[in-house]
Amino acid sequence: MTSLAGKSVLLIVGGGIAAYKVHELVRLLKTRGAGVRIILTKAAEQFVTPLSLASLSGERVYTSLFSLTDEVEMGHIQLSRAADLLVVAPATADLMAKMANGLADDLASTALLATDKPVLIAPAMNVRMWRHPATQRNVDILRRDGINIVGPNDGEMACGEFGPGRMAEPGEIVSSIIAMLTPRAQPLVGKKVVITAGPTREPIDPVRYISNHSSGKQGYALARAAMELGAETILISGPVSLPIPPGVQMMPVETAREMLETCESEMPADIAIFTAAVADWRVAVDSPEKLKKAGGAPPSLTLTENPDILATISRSANRPQIVVGFAAETEHVTEHAAQKLKSKGCDLIIANDVSKETGVFGGDRNTVHLVSATGVEDWPSMSKDEVAGKLMERLAHMLAPQHKVPK
Ligand code: CTP
Repeated sequence: MTSLAGKSVLLIVGGGIAAYKVHELVRLLKTRGAGVRIILTKAAEQFVTPLSLASLSGERVYTSLFSLTDEVEMGHIQLSRAADLLVVAPATADLMAKMANGLADDLASTALLATDKPVLIAPAMNVRMWRHPATQRNVDILRRDGINIVGPNDGEMACGEFGPGRMAEPGEIVSSIIAMLTPRAQPLVGKKVVITAGPTREPIDPVRYISNHSSGKQGYALARAAMELGAETILISGPVSLPIPPGVQMMPVETAREMLETCESEMPADIAIFTAAVADWRVAVDSPEKLKKAGGAPPSLTLTENPDILATISRSANRPQIVVGFAAETEHVTEHAAQKLKSKGCDLIIANDVSKETGVFGGDRNTVHLVSATGVEDWPSMSKDEVAGKLMERLAHMLAPQHKVPK
């Protein structure tokens, strides 16, 4: 069990039904030796009591910004300075909106604005509130501000609806806290990682195109993970609406041919990961003018095959030491992936089932199978961020000089 002895966490509890889970969170943190100071928002006091949390944490619980004793004993600035990490759980839509906009009208939001320490939030709210464009805008802003986010998970909600919005479990929050508080090795310093992501868009005419539903989430998560391990990270991305992870060099492209050209221009690299859902075909000759109905029969489009970017890079003279492909399959997942491993000449294929009922396309979770020349390794269902972190660690290990890459 990783110890958190000597570490101090300032836990800010928002007002949501998930607040009941913070008792377990505090217990887990205390078991690992962490000091836990707690701030409750006014709304949180409707769900949990200062008394129960004070007994669990062994510290007084703070509630009011204007309590003179608080300011004398420990002001809000001091509260956040004394902590190694601030954790907001549950992070309600309201609290996230305040954070994204820099509002400071109570003790919780003031401590969050006054801090220069790392911050982790565990959002929890109704699925519609989570999906609302205003919340998603705030999530983007918070990510760009460097705030770490754990969850929310999919599942049944207290309100009876189903979908993303459940707060991450206390154990997951503790894992994120450990990851943030334990200094990480950066095994990819001095290494270059190239990642393709998103769909490609193949023009039919100036206003129409062929594309697919790829969200780009897995590729962007990998780019973030590669950055965290210290790599120079190049993200060659088709059109998606995701924030660019801090420090990552993003190169926007539209067509498969542009994606290939950009990949080639970024070689040599140490690792290349191809998550993009490249359109297999394009229109042989796209029309320079908008195609008109003109009362006749619908036009027939002649398709031609796009270059296979993964196979081309994999067989090039500039081949990176490790080449990883993804295989989106709807049936015979690992068998098809094993065939792709051979036909595309890569070292590893990450196979995933994208049939509709899995919700992988566009969703936040992924269940993957690692297919290499030595066999298949099944990973449990994880968030796309977790898949990314675990995969980048594995690739970093494969790059290490003592490891022989299976061919
Ligand atoms: N890929 C690529 N260039 C293409 C097609 C695919 O780089 N023109 C890469 C993808 O980024 C992925 C892997 O190849 O890493 C497998 O993609 P997938 O769409 O599953 O395979 P396809 O080769 O397109 O085969 P099929 O659609 O027949 O399953």
